[in-house]
Amino acid sequence: MGRFIIEGGHPLNGTLKVQGAKNAALPILAAGIMSRGEVTLTNCPCIRDVDNMLDILGELGAGTERRGDTIRLSPGDASRCVMPNRLSKELRSSIFMLGPLLSRFGRAVCTYPGGCEIGHRPIDLHLKGLAALGADIREERGRIVCEGKNLHGADIHLDYPSVGATENIMMAAASAKGDTCITNAAREPEIEDLQNFLNAIGCSIWGAGTSTLYVRGGMEHVPSAVHRIMPDRIAAGTILCAAAVTGGNVTLTDVCCDHMGAAFAKLREAGCELSQRADTVTIEMKGRPNEIKLIETYPYPGFPTDMQAQFFALCTVAEGTSVIVENLFENRFRHCAELAKMGAVITQKDRTAIVRGVEKLSGASVSARDLRCGAALTIAGLGAEGITTVDNTELIDRGYQGLDKVLCSLGARITREDG
Ligand code: EPZ
Repeated sequence: MGRFIIEGGHPLNGTLKVQGAKNAALPILAAGIMSRGEVTLTNCPCIRDVDNMLDILGELGAGTERRGDTIRLSPGDASRCVMPNRLSKELRSSIFMLGPLLSRFGRAVCTYPGGCEIGHRPIDLHLKGLAALGADIREERGRIVCEGKNLHGADIHLDYPSVGATENIMMAAASAKGDTCITNAAREPEIEDLQNFLNAIGCSIWGAGTSTLYVRGGMEHVPSAVHRIMPDRIAAGTILCAAAVTGGNVTLTDVCCDHMGAAFAKLREAGCELSQRADTVTIEMKGRPNEIKLIETYPYPGFPTDMQAQFFALCTVAEGTSVIVENLFENRFRHCAELAKMGAVITQKDRTAIVRGVEKLSGASVSARDLRCGAALTIAGLGAEGITTVDNTELIDRGYQGLDKVLCSLGARITREDG
């Protein structure tokens, strides 16, 4: 069990390029199995979830090679459609393989991903969408078996704009006979990145970023494709929160500011000075943050649930009281108990938390309970008095490319101890 040892009280200053997006890289790697030609992905984040996805692709027979942030796939040799149990459990996002495997082989078998640290994580919308395309889906001893040699186009309305369900249905529909229209689709920017990748490998999809997606059935395979993974808006927001808590002055490059409207609005409400150009943003924070009266998480373009914990940490030291409502996941307040160990004043019931800001938190020993909880505790430790130890850093490494190194490059004092 690894840990960060953080010496609080050092403002962050400097310039940093933001990593590639985890939540774009994972579905795009899954979609890679649909290509017959070579695939080159650049700006891929060096994180554990990507490593696990590469292991899965390798076990399915695809050639994989990583050089720094460039990944080369040779999916032509892939021959298996049964997901390895161990890896499916390790990586919940392996559920994104259902659509691509159905597309490629007309069959897909994977372990029920089950819940994770932040909630039950149902997949009913994924399975309902695949069934609408003509897949026969059954559950066998904890595994999902999807058969679909003759998928057909369909008009599919999602009861909820699920990111994963939208992505799985897009990928399965790409090989169906006939056209598919998905309404109430998720609008997250990562879906647009996936659409661009799918079209680069011979699909014909449009509408991503809106609530209505169109997929023309039948792929025109290409000999090779190159795609650059989009910037990680959640990682960018995480660093901006760290700069806000420590009273720093930080410039982020390779950021898509258009994707960060909700987060920028809340940072400005907290009193941060933000100046932005197309792919660069500079944050300056003098003194203590103002209260953020209300943060409510919603599907994009609403305030992102993946930034809730990080902003929560900011609110714990704000001047005043903030209310935070988590609408997407039923168990995404696990940072509350850990922040309380550092002196945060929090009243939490169900999906609502009331945070009364204090002048400073005190360093303490705390544990990351999930990926974004770990990021929040690291942020809190940067601003706290004294030393904070954050355990379970392997959870943080799932989604952040060397978060400790990145923060130290901006002036933080963090030592990593691998357990
Ligand atoms: C994606 O998860 C992200 N993961 C999550 O990021 C993110 O929090 C989430 O979207 C919401 O933005 C990846 O992209 C790899 P959903 P996903 O399906 O696709 C309900 C992180 O920290 N739902 O949009 O699983 C579900 O219960 C991770 O980077 C159903 O009811 O999210 C939840 O309440 C965490 N039935 C809501 O939809 C379904 O079949 C949002 O889930 C599917 C989802």
